[in-house]
Amino acid sequence: MSFTVAIDGPAAAGKGTISKAVARHFGFAHLDTGLLYRAVGKRVLDGEDAVAAARSLRAEDLEVLGLRTPKVAQAASKVAVEPEVREALVDFQRAFAARAGGAVLDGRDIGTVICPEAAVKLFVTASPEVRAVRRHKELLETGHDAGYDSVLADVRARDERDRTRATAPLKPADDAVTIDTSHMTIEAAVAAAVAMVNKVRGA
Ligand code: CDP
Repeated sequence: MSFTVAIDGPAAAGKGTISKAVARHFGFAHLDTGLLYRAVGKRVLDGEDAVAAARSLRAEDLEVLGLRTPKVAQAASKVAVEPEVREALVDFQRAFAARAGGAVLDGRDIGTVICPEAAVKLFVTASPEVRAVRRHKELLETGHDAGYDSVLADVRARDERDRTRATAPLKPADDAVTIDTSHMTIEAAVAAAVAMVNKVRGA
C-alpha cells in the first residue's frame, strides 16, 4: 500500500535531514526532489537546453558529483521557473510517491502540486539567517568555502524566485502542518515530524 509524506519548505530549512530521518524511521523510500532540479540546472550550466535536459533526465544524473554547490542551486531555481521543465518531472515524482511501502518526498510543491492527496504534509521552515548559518556550515564541511554573506544572499534570492514564480510557487498547502526549526534542535524537529506521521497512521 502507498503512504506518502510530503515535506516542503524554503532552502536549507532542514527538509533533507528530517525527510531522511523520517524515511529511515518508518522504512519508507526517500526522494530529494531538489536533486531533479539541480541535475537539470547542472546540465544547463554544461550547455544544454533546460526543457530537453528535463525530458531526458536519467537516474544517473542524480548521482553526478557537484550538484550541491551554490552555483548549481541558483541554476536549479532558474530552470524550476519554467513550466515545461516542471511538467517533465511530474510523472517520475508521482510514480515514486505511489510506490508500495511508503515514500517521503521533499521539495517545494509536493503537498500542493505533486501529491495533493499525501497522507501527511509538513512545511519545514526557519528564519533566513538560521538557514544561512546551517547551509554555510554544510558547505564548509564539504569543502566549499563560500562566505556567510554570500550564502545568505543565495538563500534569499532562491526563496524570492521560488515564492514568486507563477507555476507551483513555494507555499504551504492549506492542510500542511508547519514546523519552524529556527529554535529547534534537529532531534526535536525529527521527533515532531515522526509524531505527525504516527498520528496519521494511528500509532
Ligand atoms: O537543498 P535546498 O533546500 O537548498 O535546495 P533544493 O531542495 O535542492 O532545491 C534547489 C532548487 O530547486 C530550489 O531553489 C527550487 O527552485 C527548485 N525546486 C523546486 O522548484 N521544486 C522542488 N520540488 C524542489 C526543488
